[in-house]
Amino acid sequence: MIRLTYISTARGNLDAVATSDLLAASQRNNRRVGLTGLLLFDGVRFLQALEGDEAPLLATFARIKADPRHRACVELGRAEVETRGFGDWDMAWQRVDAGVSRETLVETVDRLVAQVPDANTRALFMSFARIDRHAA
Ligand SMILES: Cc1cc2nc3c(=O)[nH]c(=O)nc-3n(C[C@H](O)[C@H](O)[C@H](O)COP(=O)(O)O)c2cc1C
Repeated sequence: MIRLTYISTARGNLDAVATSDLLAASQRNNRRVGLTGLLLFDGVRFLQALEGDEAPLLATFARIKADPRHRACVELGRAEVETRGFGDWDMAWQRVDAGVSRETLVETVDRLVAQVPDANTRALFMSFARIDRHAA
């Protein structure tokens, strides 16, 4: 199995309807091909981890990279893994802006990455959650 992480920048304003459409399609497709993962979105950037067998994962990632809803998709890591860290979720999703206190967010994301064996991947998601988005 492979675990792959990337970061990207949303194109235009993705509202709640657009993001729930995106998530529904992702979960449906991922369930079909046995992919699991986590997607964080702060209104500007996406941070996503995908894990599963290499062939369906790379086919999915190729579709994701070509998706006009975001741009500047940069792969941050790709590794062979023995076990799933996001085993319960076709694609777990968390908005990390607006309305939720940073403490709550950090706790939520901490829970979402708790089973990920790789410390670098956990740290990546935690630092994305910890960014102070109210800073000037
Ligand atoms: C940030 C982002 C993350 C995405 N994640 C996934 C994903 O995990 N799985 C997936 O199948 N599609 C994902 N997509 C959607 C794909 O780009 C593509 O639209 C979709 O797979 C097409 O599926 P459909 O042919 O069933 O509509 C993502 C798109 C974006 C912009």
